[in-house]
Amino acid sequence: MNKYAVIGNPINHSLSPTIHAQFAKQVGLSMTYEKILAPLDGFTIAVKNFISAGALGFNITVPFKLEAFDLVDECTLNAKTSGAVNTIKVENGILYGENTDGTGLVNDLCNNLQQSIKGKDILILGAGGATQGILLPLLECQPERILVANRTKARSLKLASSYSEFGKVCGFGLDQIKAKPVDIIINATSASLDGKTPEIPPGVAAGALCYDLMYGKQTPFMQWARKNSALEVTDGLGMLVEQAASAFAFWHGKTPETKQILKFLRETID
Ligand code: ATR
Repeated sequence: MNKYAVIGNPINHSLSPTIHAQFAKQVGLSMTYEKILAPLDGFTIAVKNFISAGALGFNITVPFKLEAFDLVDECTLNAKTSGAVNTIKVENGILYGENTDGTGLVNDLCNNLQQSIKGKDILILGAGGATQGILLPLLECQPERILVANRTKARSLKLASSYSEFGKVCGFGLDQIKAKPVDIIINATSASLDGKTPEIPPGVAAGALCYDLMYGKQTPFMQWARKNSALEVTDGLGMLVEQAASAFAFWHGKTPETKQILKFLRETID
């Protein structure tokens, strides 16, 4: 049997098994896709055990994406630049790493939400792992510029300078954001997990597409954006499905259709 999985901690909430089962059905592929809870200090062991059991590939989620990067034998430019891996393919004992998060976001923006990124002014809130995962694919779409604003300014300055060879990207403190509107605001902070939204001037959301990388009907950031005249507001469910589709293509060489599963998940999850 073709064995796949997602490894994380926590992992119970993961929708990946549902998504990959639907993709496999679409292309007539027989495979298993399970959830593996790895102890916080036991990622490598969990990976070794799964490979010994015959794994052909797996996804990696919070908090192991950086450890996964250290574990792979080879990786794509995208994974290398972000320093994080969310998809591993196992072939003849060699681990190939990719990071499909950014492609997932770009595909959701461009294909599902019909947004063009080229020439746009983009503001990303946060400068942690989530931002690292999306910067290169966004820059490859040639936005006018990307502003990365973080509560801890030093972190966004460092991140922006490490991506400057790929396009126009500048780092700021959250407290330096001006009330001037931008085209797209992406919330890549983990503030929603604490029921909070980053503190930024409300005027910046006016007329913007506001995108929360977290998913759920009403994240605090989405509520903030709706209250502050955003043109369009969305969560990251589309990105979740699209990153899974890119991972599926990385493993199986076939890109699945995503609209049906996205519609199903929208109707069933909170
Ligand atoms: P992830 O892998 O989810 O990106 P991370 O690397 O810990 O997690 O990064 C979390 C990000 O959310 C950081 O940019 C963090 O800001 P700091 O670097 O200043 O810590 C940001 N963040 C978390 N809670 C926040 C809040 N309440 N307001 C603003 N930013 C917040």
